[in-house]
Amino acid sequence: MAQQNYLRLGDTAPDFEADSTQGRISFHKWKEGKWAILFSHPGDYTPVCTTELGMTAKLQPEFAKRNTLVIGLSVDNVDDHHGWVKDIETTQNCTVNYPIVADPDRTVAETYGMIHPNSPHTMAGKLTVRTVWIIDPNNKVRLNLTYPAATGRNFNEVMRVLDALQLTDNYKVATPVNWEQGQDCVVLPTISTEDAKSLFPKGVTEVTPYLRLTPQPNLP
Ligand code: BEZ
Repeated sequence: MAQQNYLRLGDTAPDFEADSTQGRISFHKWKEGKWAILFSHPGDYTPVCTTELGMTAKLQPEFAKRNTLVIGLSVDNVDDHHGWVKDIETTQNCTVNYPIVADPDRTVAETYGMIHPNSPHTMAGKLTVRTVWIIDPNNKVRLNLTYPAATGRNFNEVMRVLDALQLTDNYKVATPVNWEQGQDCVVLPTISTEDAKSLFPKGVTEVTPYLRLTPQPNLP
């Protein structure tokens, strides 16, 4: 089996310089101090991608509230991106205010492992699959989701994971199965129940010594 280098959680997201619908972008400089959602789509002028990019445009203000930039990528060129953005805005009733990277020579896509040669509907590995990367302000990879080309992603789920990651970073809680905003969180296993009681003044419920719940700490 061919040896492959995978980008793993906790690794530094590779920097790159590329053209985009908002001009030349130096990735690390562009996102400096912020979280970023970098997502690839198989190609311009394709139906599923059109709906995904429209939804991302509508969610962009919510991502911004979370100190998060969004950036798309496909292996098409900038002129195609510009033409297609007009279609996205018309058909999805939105304004696309985030950049879409043009990666016609697939340099970024290959570096990030977004080309999957054996995946169906990617023209023998010439197109990208649907990968989402959540990258934190220190440029570390915090999430990698990969969907097949013919399956649209759920960007509400991407937002949910972003919220969960930021809660863990800021409040020392984890999030249980199917967690949604406003629901109880899990005290990190590294914190003793005694410490948890002073750390979480809203209260700690000890279901078992290792499963401790507390109300979501960043809500009033
Ligand atoms: C699309 O983006 O619409 C798409 C791409 C590849 C296969 C099927 C759908």
